[in-house]
This record gives sequence, C-alpha cells and structure tokens, in this order.
Amino acid sequence: MTKKLILRRPDDWHLHLRDGAMLAAVLPETARHFARAIIMPNLVPPVVTSRDAAAYRDRILAAIPQGCDFTPLMTLYLTEDTDPEDVAAAQATGLVSAVKLYPAGATTNSASGVQDFDKVRPVLERMADIGLPLCVHGEVTDPSVDIFDREAVFIETVLDPIRRATPGLRVVMEHITTKEGVDYVLANDADLAATITTHHLVINRNHILVGGIKPHYYCLPIAKREKHRLALRAAATSGDDRFFLGTDSAPHTDANKQSACGCAGCFTAPNTLPVLAHVFEEEKSLDRLEGFVSLHGPAFYGMQPNTEKLTLVKAAPLSAPDHIMTSEGPVTIFDPGFPLCWRVDPDNQSPT
Ligand code: NCD
Ligand code: ZN
Repeated sequence: MTKKLILRRPDDWHLHLRDGAMLAAVLPETARHFARAIIMPNLVPPVVTSRDAAAYRDRILAAIPQGCDFTPLMTLYLTEDTDPEDVAAAQATGLVSAVKLYPAGATTNSASGVQDFDKVRPVLERMADIGLPLCVHGEVTDPSVDIFDREAVFIETVLDPIRRATPGLRVVMEHITTKEGVDYVLANDADLAATITTHHLVINRNHILVGGIKPHYYCLPIAKREKHRLALRAAATSGDDRFFLGTDSAPHTDANKQSACGCAGCFTAPNTLPVLAHVFEEEKSLDRLEGFVSLHGPAFYGMQPNTEKLTLVKAAPLSAPDHIMTSEGPVTIFDPGFPLCWRVDPDNQSPT
C-alpha cells in the first residue's frame, strides 16, 4: 500500500555546507528538499565578521544549482574579539540570522571559539536587546570531564549562568544529545529552544562502538546511552514547538573519517527526510513531522513557514546510494541501519 504525506517545505536549522569543491558537491543534497538552512560558520578561517558572512553567502548563492530555490541563513562565529556593532549591523541588514557560540576546542574547526565567557558579555547583551538568537554548541572542553558528560556539565556550569546573566537572550541549544538537554528546555521559557539531529534519533553509543568501531557514526556531541536517544525521540515527536530539526549534516571525505584520528560529523542531508518519516512513523507521530521540520523552526526565528509543499511517499524499500562523489573524494551518507521505505516524491523536488 502506498502512503503519502504532504508537508510544507522544510528548513534545516543547523547545517555545514563547507566551501569550494565540497560546497558545490553537498549543497544540492540540501537545496533539493530544504528551502532554507542556518549555515554554520566553522570554516577555516571561520566566518567571524559581517564582511566574511557576506562573502560566504555569495559563494553559497553562486553554488546553488539552476532552478533550485534555496536561501542560506548566515551566522557569525563568536570570538572574544567580536564587535557588538558589527553584529547589530549584520542583523539590521538581514545578512545574519544568528550568532554561533563554540567553546574553544569543542569540535571541528573551533579553535577560535570562546575561552573566557566574560569577554563576550557585551555582544550577548547587545544580542538580547536586538533579539538576535545565539546558537550554542553545548559541550565543555575541560579535559577532565568525560566526553559523555560534557553536554550535561555545560548546561549547568556555562549555559545556565549565561542565560541568568543575560535576561532576554534567545538561545538555541544545538544538536542536543541528552535527557538533561531535553529537560532543560522543558523547564524554561520560550526564549530557549533546541535543535535535534536526524542521526541522534537513530543511533546510541553502542552503534559507534559495538562490533567494531564505526567512524561514520562518530559526531560531536557524541551519541549517548539509549535512555538519552529515547528522550530525544520523545521530545522531537511531542509536538512541543521548542524542538525542531537541525540536521548538523557535516560532510567529511571518507579518507578524513576513516583515519587514525577521524573527523567528527555525520552526512545526513541526502536521506534526512526519509529517515525522519521512518522514525516518526515508528513513534506513531507522522502527524507531528511537519511541525518538527517545517513549522517550529520558523516560529522561533520569527520567520514565515514556507508556502510550497513537499510530498513524502512510502512504498517498497529503495536501494539508495551509500555515498556521494566529490572532487576531494567520496563522502559516505549516514546509514540508518534500516531499509528506507519513505522517499521524497521526485516530482516535488526542486530541479537540480
Ligand atoms: C561538525 C563539523 O564537522 O563541522 N561536526 C560534528 O560532529 N557535528 C562540527 C559540529 O557541529 O560540532
Ligand atoms: Zn554542527
């Protein structure tokens, strides 16, 4: 039996597009299905100033395939030298939609992130005044804190103090991976939201480590115990509008993943919607998928939802490619570990 699900066209509220040849290869995978995406600024060197963001936006716009309708929503990478005036001007012209906070050293290309949170206080206060959201990579970097505890410790020792010190600051906890993350959102007000990735709804830490190490499941924040995955699934499928999709699709070449010191990141852009439809169907919440992928995010960011529609169809499982090819080498697509019966109706995709 064929099942059909019609949604407003979705957006991705956390995406890594990279630059150059990688940008050209991965952008169509998102633009095919998603109307907008919050673009992460962790290039080398990072996207720090409004001038950097304007130049990066131009490179993204130039790489959009013909006939494809896609809007990149730019972010600035917060450093201890970020100028509040530059941030405010970038928001006023509509150039940026958020500022991104990486604790220094937390993840891929985060060396220029924040070490001393007092130094960014003037920027955060300005952002609270002008209503510009702060997107937070929520992990402490203290080497004495176990990697599986870094999110929970960050919430308690960094995020909560920042929020108390900066009333009115709108915060997105990005790619939450723990029950503590879910509970922190639930205990707070509408100024706080969280994105959840596709892969964290599917894998727990056993998937990475049992039966041989699986570098393509290694991402940051790292997947946690099963109870956390279940908390994320409950939150994503709850209909609560403080939770929405940020895929954190983070492409790295296979050579960079399958190495003695492999990069963190799961490449989920190509199959995110079929995987999410499977997850929401398992949770008997298909009617809430549209909220998660198409409605809650724009509401938090004060934008209109998209008016165009996208159709998902369920049929016999399709064998899908396991990688895309780039001129830097193959990039493996996230393997959810189950056959994909849902697919985006090809008539409904933006031409690429
Ligand atoms: C991201 C990347 O590769 O840029 N990696 C990841 O595992 N998610 C960085 C990040 O968002 O942490
Ligand atoms: Zn990310």
